[in-house]
Amino acid sequence: MPENILIAIAWPYANAEIHVGNITGSHLPGDIVARYHRLNGDNVLMITGTDSHGTPVTIAADKEGVPVETVYKKYHEGFIELFQQIGISYDLYTSTHTENHFKVSQSIFLALKENGFLFTKVEEQWYSPAAGKFLPDRYVEGTCYICGDDNARSDQCDKCGNVLEPAKLINPRSKVDGSTPELRDTEHFYIDLSKLEPDVKDFLRARASHMRDTVLGESLGKIEAEGLKPRPITRDLDWGIPVPVKKWEGKCLYVWFEAVIGYLSAPIEWSQLTGDKNAWKKWWADPSARQFHFIGKDNIFFHTSLWPAELMGVGEKFAEIFNGEKGVKLTLPYDVPANQFMNLQGDKISGSRNWAVWGRDALTRYDPDALRYYLTVNMPESKDSDWDWNEFVARNNGELVATWGNLANRVLSFAYKHWEGFVPAIDESALRPADLSLLSAIDEGFNTVGELYNTVKLRDALRESLRLATEVNRYLDANAPWTAIKTDRDAAALTIFTALKAIDSLKVLLAPVLPFTSAKLHSFFGYEALLFGEQYTETATDSLGEHTVLRYRAGQTASQLFWKPSSLKPGHALNQPGPLFKKLEEKVIEEEMARLGK
Ligand code: MF3
Ligand code: ZN
Repeated sequence: MPENILIAIAWPYANAEIHVGNITGSHLPGDIVARYHRLNGDNVLMITGTDSHGTPVTIAADKEGVPVETVYKKYHEGFIELFQQIGISYDLYTSTHTENHFKVSQSIFLALKENGFLFTKVEEQWYSPAAGKFLPDRYVEGTCYICGDDNARSDQCDKCGNVLEPAKLINPRSKVDGSTPELRDTEHFYIDLSKLEPDVKDFLRARASHMRDTVLGESLGKIEAEGLKPRPITRDLDWGIPVPVKKWEGKCLYVWFEAVIGYLSAPIEWSQLTGDKNAWKKWWADPSARQFHFIGKDNIFFHTSLWPAELMGVGEKFAEIFNGEKGVKLTLPYDVPANQFMNLQGDKISGSRNWAVWGRDALTRYDPDALRYYLTVNMPESKDSDWDWNEFVARNNGELVATWGNLANRVLSFAYKHWEGFVPAIDESALRPADLSLLSAIDEGFNTVGELYNTVKLRDALRESLRLATEVNRYLDANAPWTAIKTDRDAAALTIFTALKAIDSLKVLLAPVLPFTSAKLHSFFGYEALLFGEQYTETATDSLGEHTVLRYRAGQTASQLFWKPSSLKPGHALNQPGPLFKKLEEKVIEEEMARLGK
């Protein structure tokens, strides 16, 4: 039975370009798992979009001296270009700045309110008389009341590392214009997470056996130690989603409160775009659907506590408010396989210090699968990892090219040349024990590697696939068809047939990580059916204006089962093969270090 699999990836803020750390942190692992499930014939929906609201985005706009809308659009378009080039195959990549997302978010807010999980509270906050508005905590700087440093942000001091109570800041000044703000009363909505704490704990405990220890420690472990406290979910801001309550004009929903709701609103938007309004329920109203959240470790609280709490708090009320439907209970996340961070040459990646490898820039020099390969062998699944240019070149040349690329290229070219473009027309009953044992080892990979993808152990999945490629190389060394062809053509034919069949299978095992080259290899094998669908963009229009969306068209690949051992037949016609990967020159390392200013 095909499963319903939702692949939900953290919504990137529209405030900076995406670098390799972001790619390997969430987008790439999500894409690999999505592609695995598609090959396995499951119903996959992979979604996210640009996180367009919040102070990170308004600060970027202030810095660049342009309207927020301009900044958000600029990064949004760039993200889409990157995901298309590197093959992050979103069924829908949208934005939080859409009419649909506003409506879904406001419905969730109202459902929580009706169910009694929200309360309001008045508190003092810094207000700028000069600007005529309240200032977000990050916009107010002054002297730290703990260490006396006078460059503290009102909510945090970088000097002493303490989280600060904003109202206690000494000599406050507005980051916008330097003017002096004053404390004024302001009212906000809070979500009462303490009421939902027992539910959140049960939710996490029920998933403890398959969630990563690193994630459980940061979620269940923390809640058990500190409990869950109410959190304010509105802000005095004009860029964002209006609080849907009378007399609350001028206030917006807190960005984290609404961005996580994108995991529900994007499937709903996708359903509208595909013309089947109810399609989202496959992933959202089916309790057996499995939802995976791919995120970085800094986002764990929001995905393991806040978002499940919102979902449990709304119960069936969401659909009642949203479209008047009764009895729709929303599915809860299945797993949150958060990754740790990737550093660069041993130091923390930092956009502002230009200490980064930017996705779009790297793609101007390297093929997407070469980047995907290195980002997967080095994925920070259980601990921080490091992007190292030396290692990038070494692994590209020594593993991707030497172990896998050359294997495929050598065998296909040899077959193409010596059997005139066909798979040797052997009699399969003549296959020798060594041939059969190699093929059964490869066939077993569909179970072992499949289970690794299924349980999001992607480094291991890649390592195991490569180990199987090494087995094929060993088998070829032992059977040396290149010399046998001169003395025993029948034996060479058996060997080449076996190797072709093994490569045809390995192509599928590696396809989630290496979709571009696996698709190419698939065409060298002369298959008509495509391995994957295609990505495309379109413009969606609503009352907020236009937004570009990235989409995925499964086409004839929809619900086909590719995740099974090769059934390549003797005598099958091949296409002219060619190389799949490029060997990189050593001088690349120096050039890249120079780009980093080293
Ligand atoms: N925009 C956040 C970041 O870049 C991630 C938001 S994930 C969401 O860190 F679920 F809240 F959308
Ligand atoms: Zn301090």
